[in-house]
Amino acid sequence: MRISVIGCGYLGAVHAACMAHLGHEVVGIDVDEQKVSELSSARAPFYEPGLSELLEQVLNTGRLSFTSNVASASGSDVHFICVGTPQKKGENAADMTYVDAAVAKLLPYISEGDVVVGKSTVPVGTAARLAGLIKEIQPLAHLVWNPEFLREGHAVSDTLNPDRFVYGVEDGSEDHPAVAVLDEVYAAPLSSGTPRLVTDPPTAELVKTAANSFLATKISFINAMAEVCEAAGADVTSLADAIGMDDRIGRKFLNAGIGFGGGCLPKDIRAFMARAGELGADQALTFLREVDAINMRRRTRVIELTRALCDDSLLGKRIAVLGAAFKPESDDVRDSPALSIAAQLQLQGAIVTVTDPKALKNAAKRFPELHYEPDPVNAISKSDALLLLTEWQEYRDLDPYALSPIVAAARILDGRNVLNAEKWRAAGWTYKGLGRP
Ligand code: UDX
Repeated sequence: MRISVIGCGYLGAVHAACMAHLGHEVVGIDVDEQKVSELSSARAPFYEPGLSELLEQVLNTGRLSFTSNVASASGSDVHFICVGTPQKKGENAADMTYVDAAVAKLLPYISEGDVVVGKSTVPVGTAARLAGLIKEIQPLAHLVWNPEFLREGHAVSDTLNPDRFVYGVEDGSEDHPAVAVLDEVYAAPLSSGTPRLVTDPPTAELVKTAANSFLATKISFINAMAEVCEAAGADVTSLADAIGMDDRIGRKFLNAGIGFGGGCLPKDIRAFMARAGELGADQALTFLREVDAINMRRRTRVIELTRALCDDSLLGKRIAVLGAAFKPESDDVRDSPALSIAAQLQLQGAIVTVTDPKALKNAAKRFPELHYEPDPVNAISKSDALLLLTEWQEYRDLDPYALSPIVAAARILDGRNVLNAEKWRAAGWTYKGLGRP
C-alpha cells in the first residue's frame, strides 16, 4: 500500500520505518527540515534501539522516503497522523495545535476512498471533530482512530509485534470499508496472531487514555505502598513480588521508585482529567489527581532521603546522579523525574553532577544549570553520595568494591530498587532503597 506518515517524532519515525519494513511504500512528512534530512540519511533524530539499523535497511529498498512537503501525501491510500499532543503550558489539557495543523495541511491531498488514521493520543471527541472537517472536503474519505501503544526503548518491536490493534471506525462495525484497508496495512502482524478489536472512534480514543491511566495508577499504587512500607519498616519489593503472584494483579509495572515520567503518562492523565471535566465527568477521575500527587511526592521524598543520607545537610555536598533519561534505553528527558530531582538538589545547595549514556545532550538543553559528565566513573569520583535514578544496565552492573576507593563517602540511594543491597552493604556502603528498611 502507499502510506503517508505525518509527523516524524518518537511515534511517526518508528511507524514510517516499520510500515516500510512490512513492505509498504511510505513517505514520512515533517515540518522540521533537519529531522527530515537526518532521517533521509538513516540517522534517527533520537535514541531508539534498532531504529537506525531499520532505517538504513528500508531506505536502501527505496520504499521509504522523508520530506517536509505535505503535497507528497497525495496519492497515498492511507495517511497516518502521528504528531505530538503535549501538555498545554500552565494547563492540564492537551495542546491540539499540531494535530489540527497536520490535518488542515493534509486536507487538500485527501482523495476519494483514502483512509486517514489517527495514532496520536488525543482527548476523546477529537476523531469526531476531525472526521467532520475531512467529510466537508472529501465526503468519500474515512477517518479511523487507531491508537499506538508503543513504549520508548522498545518502539520498533512494539510496532512490529503489538499486543493488539484497536480500530475505531465510524459505525463501529467490522464491515466498515476502512477495516479491510487497515487489515491490509497490518497484514503481517495480523497473520502472526496479533488480536484486533473494532470499535467506535470515542472508545478507541479512550482505550489509549484508559490504558495509560491504568499503568500510571499501578505505579502510583505501589509507590503509595512504598510510603507505608517506609513508615512500617516493611519492604515494598517483597510486597510487590507477593501481590504480583496473583494473576489478577500481575508483577509488571509494580516497581516502586522515583515515579513515572516521560512524554506520555504524566501529560496523558492530566489531559484525561481536563477532558473529563469538559464532559461533566470530572468526578469519575478525581483519583487520577491522587495518582499524580503520589507520583510527584516521590521526587520530594528522594530529596529528603538524600539530605538524611548526607548527614542532614545538602549544602556543598557533591552528589553524583546516575541517569537523566526518564527510563533506560531512551534519550528522552521529557518530565524526567531524575532531572527534576537533580535540579532540586542543586537548588538546595548540593553540587550535582549528572551522567547518562544517551540523554546528556537533551538534558543540557532542558537544565543548562546542571553539570554533566559522560563518564560515570568521573561523575562518581569524590562524591559524597550516589543517586541511581535511571536504571541503565551499566549502573545496575556497577561494582561497589571498585567504587569505594574513589568516592569521598560510600553512600548510595537506589531510586529504582535495582541494586543488590546486601552486596553494596557488604562492600561498606550505606545503601538506601525506596520503601525498603
Ligand atoms: C507509556 C506506555 O507504556 C505506552 O504503552 C504508551 O504508548 C506510552 O506511554 P513509555 O512512556 O515509553 O510508555 O514508558 P513506560 O515503559 O510505560 O514507563 C513510563 C514511566 O514509568 C517511566 O518513567 C518508568 O521508569 C516508570 N515506571 C514503569 C515505574 O516507575 N515503575 C514501573 O514498574 C514501570
